Amino acid sequence: MSQSKKSFTDYEGFVEKFKTKLTTDDCYTPPAVYDTVLQWLRENVDIEGREIVRPFYPGGDFENFDYPEGCVVVDNPPFSIYSKIVRFYIARGIRFFLFAPALTTFVSDADCSFVITQVHITYENGARVNTNFVTNLIEPRVWLCGELLRRITETQEKKKSLRKIILPDTVQSPARLGAYVEFGTDYKIMRNESTAPRSGIKDYKVFGLCILLGRHVADHLRTERERTERERTDFFSLSDAESEEVANLTRQ
Ligand SMILES: C[S@@+](CC[C@H](N)C(=O)[O-])C[C@H]1O[C@@H](n2cnc3c(N)ncnc32)[C@H](O)[C@@H]1O
Repeated sequence: MSQSKKSFTDYEGFVEKFKTKLTTDDCYTPPAVYDTVLQWLRENVDIEGREIVRPFYPGGDFENFDYPEGCVVVDNPPFSIYSKIVRFYIARGIRFFLFAPALTTFVSDADCSFVITQVHITYENGARVNTNFVTNLIEPRVWLCGELLRRITETQEKKKSLRKIILPDTVQSPARLGAYVEFGTDYKIMRNESTAPRSGIKDYKVFGLCILLGRHVADHLRTERERTERERTDFFSLSDAESEEVANLTRQ
């Protein structure tokens, strides 16, 4: 290796030491978020009188932690050993309600339930992580919980609204038009089939200004996008045995 390359490599290593590590294992829970989760749990699950414990902390050892009789673990565990933790609690019969990584929430071979919120939590180290929850305290396999999502989101950003705004497809900003380009569209919108840029529609201001499109232009863009989306998508179907399994699933 040349001397200059060697120095460069060493320099990268040197700089790396000063960077804040943002691993999910180091995501400390903002107290307000934790309190919101615990309050929601108290309102929805009977844990009255049970001791709440948090065995996950630097240098902790959850396998040898002294769990009080009848306690409930409500904590944010290190996600790198998430499945192992869930299986450990189930095997030991310990009640738990844990923060879970959003993409890998489901745990195989574990009799537990999942509370889906996909809530963006900004942890104390600045990492923004999509989060769900895993528990053995509720009956359903999966609880899609908009209420918990709403409460945690409000805890973090008082002003952020969960209401979604959908503009007519005849109203297009540069960002919205960009979504069509992403799907490979090549198309020219002529002057007489669109308006000049304006601030928004009615009293709603569009970030980056917007233009109005003729109906035929909006229809063309939508059709093109749907076609490309279909072409780029693989549709999988169930096997006969899986279809039969699905047909036999009922609500008692
Ligand atoms: C995601 S952080 C959450 C910390 C804290 N529970 C909270 O909610 O803010 C996970 C913590 O678990 C710790 N940890 C890692 N391995 C552990 C283990 N085997 N037993 C207990 N704690 C562990 C990490 O050091 C880290 O402090």
